Order: sequence, then structure tokens, then C-alpha cells
Amino acid sequence: MKIKVGVIFGGESVEHEVSIISAIQAMNKMDLEKYEVVPIYITKDREWYTGEILKDIETYSDFDLIKKYCANVVLYYKNGSYVLQKKNGLFKSVVKDIDIAFPVVHGTNVEDGVLQGYLQTIGIPFVGSNVYASVVGQDKAFMKDVWKSADIPMTKYVWFYDVDYKEDKDAVLKMVSKLKYPVIVKPACTGSSVGISVCDKEDKLFESIDEAIQYDSKIVVEEVVKNLKEVNIAVMGNYERQKVSEIEEVLSANKFLTFDDKYIGGGKGKVKGAKSSKTVSSKGMASTNRKLPAELDPKVRSKVEDIAVRAFKALGSSGNSRIDFLIDDKTNEVYINEINSIPGSLAFYLWDAKDINFTSLLDEMIQIGIKDYKKRVSKTHSFESNILQGFAANAGTKGMKGKLK
Ligand SMILES: Nc1ncnc2c1ncn2[C@@H]1O[C@H](COP(=O)(O)OP(=O)(O)O)[C@@H](O)[C@H]1O
Ligand SMILES: [Mg+2]
Repeated sequence: MKIKVGVIFGGESVEHEVSIISAIQAMNKMDLEKYEVVPIYITKDREWYTGEILKDIETYSDFDLIKKYCANVVLYYKNGSYVLQKKNGLFKSVVKDIDIAFPVVHGTNVEDGVLQGYLQTIGIPFVGSNVYASVVGQDKAFMKDVWKSADIPMTKYVWFYDVDYKEDKDAVLKMVSKLKYPVIVKPACTGSSVGISVCDKEDKLFESIDEAIQYDSKIVVEEVVKNLKEVNIAVMGNYERQKVSEIEEVLSANKFLTFDDKYIGGGKGKVKGAKSSKTVSSKGMASTNRKLPAELDPKVRSKVEDIAVRAFKALGSSGNSRIDFLIDDKTNEVYINEINSIPGSLAFYLWDAKDINFTSLLDEMIQIGIKDYKKRVSKTHSFESNILQGFAANAGTKGMKGKLK
């Protein structure tokens, strides 16, 4: 019997279109001898759809196609199965049942633990990081605080809330004065370089913060790494075992890697996502300009590998995450930048360069998801208690009934 894999993608995120591309790339590479692929697309309006045409990128140029040929469904637990059931129609029939969910989502409301929380609530096995690792992996302030306590090297940073800034700008200015300019100002939770700007001097700081504040209530400010070389590496596994991919160097035409550098790159075909104005290369993250493998001093290479594994473990990540680094090319100082719990294009190209093809990568990710699930259900999540009995008895004798009358 084939394992039915529900590939979940889209969602209410600025990286919605990128997720469509990553998911289509993955769906087309899954081992069909072992797995049956069930596409599950979440629109920006939070409607869930399933249907075969969702495997085809052309579908997304016309939203009416989805409405017409796909079923609008909910995913829930019913009689021992995880089912996709029609939301509308006379019979509200079950369209499909699935064995494991495979989130291929990017950004807020999905990659950040929100979707994982839903999946764990209904109890379905799923691929990738659990709720906690996903939450911390999306929030640059949480991420840095956790890594700091694990002695992971980072640039100096501070973070604060929008309310603190609005109430006392001078206090924020003072806080940031502990850092050396230039600094880079980021909304804590966006991704894809949205809302990020470099600030060369103190009198421009408020401008940068005002920009970032539009996207998040939490703002991170950190020192800029000079002579910047950006390298990325993927880590696959879970808290028990990890392995690392090849390292890439990403190249940017701008001061820092922008949305366009990442996704508009050199890809030929374009996709216009449902209800979106951004046109994204159909190659997704695979279209970034890169040097693969990165040219690195062997010492720097092993430092990157070592820090990546430690960072992955510190968060308790699972599946296949990409960890991004900032290197000062003159001093060879290595700083971690961030983790992408579910990287664009699932960073397949980084594994491909290590002779693990996309199909094997997906296979390994699913197998890790199954192991995580088994581990999770093997732990005790309840214990016998007579609290409720006691409560009922009290309610009886102490007049709860009377109160309810
Ligand atoms: N401390 C830093 N020093 C220099 N450049 C940085 C620094 N932090 C980020 N950048 C640049 O900004 C880009 C986006 O920042 P990043 O933290 O990766 O946010 P996102 O989650 O949006 O990808 C990076 O790819 C890098 O080019
Ligand atoms: Mg980044």
C-alpha cells in the first residue's frame, strides 16, 4: 500500500507564491512507487482546496480553474483517519484520506508553527519541525535569544516592541547605541527581506524602524557584517541525528539579498500566484545566483558545518532546514544569520550537490516525519487522575446543580 502524502502549501503569507513553486517542485519529484501525492492548497483567504490540477503551475494563473475543478475541503480527524472532506454540497463527502502531512509552506501563518499546531491538534503525522522549533525558527528575536544561550556565534543585536519605540524613541536610540553602525533593521517575523533596511548612521535609525514596524510588532536591530560573504547550508535529521548538505554562496547585486535576488533571479518561466501582484520565477529559490559549492577555506567550511548542526539541535528542528551564515571574508569570522525551517525549493540543490537527489531527499524527509510521529506518540501525554470525578462529586454535594438551575 502506498503512503498517502498530503502536500500542504500556500497560506496567508508574503511567500505564498514561492510556496506554490516549492510544492510543485516537490510533488513532481516524489517517488510514486512508494507515495501517493495529494495536493492541498491553502489560498490567501484561508480556503483549503484539493485536486489533481494543483500539481500544475499553469493552474495558478487562473483562480477560477481552482474553484471549478478542485474540492473546497477541511482536513480533520474522523473515525481513525485524517480526511479531506468537502465543505459544501449536499453530502459533504470525504474526497480523500491521507496518512501524513507534508507542509511545504513559507513564512508567517504557516511555516511559523501555526500550521504545525493545527496538524498536531488533530494528531496527524507530519514532516518537518514541530511547533516549538517552527515558532522559534520564524522569529528572529526568539531565534537569537535561544542561540545566544547555546553559544552560537552571531552579530551583536538588540530587539524591542513597536509600543516601546512609540512610547520612548530615545530609549530605543540608547539601546541601539550599544551597537556599532552601520546596523540592519528587521521586522522579527517576515522573511524574504521584506521590511529590512541598512542604516548607516544614527540619524537615519527612526526611518528604518518606521519601515520595519509596518510589518511586525517586534523589531530586531543588529550590526552589519563587513566584507560580506553569504553562505547557506542545509541540515537534515531531527534532534537525535543530523547530516549536512553542500554549502552554497549566494550572490547579490544589491547591498543585501532582496526578494528579487532570491526569487526573480534567472528563472525562465514565471508564475503569477493567485491574487498576487508579484511575479516569481518558476524556479523559486533554485533561481538565485549562487556558487555551489562555495569557495571556502577548509577551516571555515567545518566551522559552518559544526555551527549549523548545533543551531539545528538547539532549536530541536526536524526535517530539512536551511541555515544561513554571514561571513566576514577578510577576517574569516563566521556568524549565523537565520534558519529557514522549510527552505525555498526545499533546498534540494544543496543536497543534489552531495549526491542526494530530490526524490531521495523527499523520501528521507517523510521517513524522519514518521519517526518523529512514533516518538511523539510513545511519550505519555496523559495520566490517570480523579480530578474530574472529584469535581463532579463536589458539584453534586456543594450545590453546583443548584447554580446551574
Ligand atoms: N547582520 C547583517 N550584516 C550584513 N548583511 C545582513 C545582515 N543581516 C542580514 N543581512 C542581509 O539581508 C538579507 C536578509 O536578511 P535576513 O535576516 O536573512 O532576512 P530574511 O528572513 O528576510 O531572509 C540577508 O540575506 C543579507 O544579505
Ligand atoms: Mg534570509
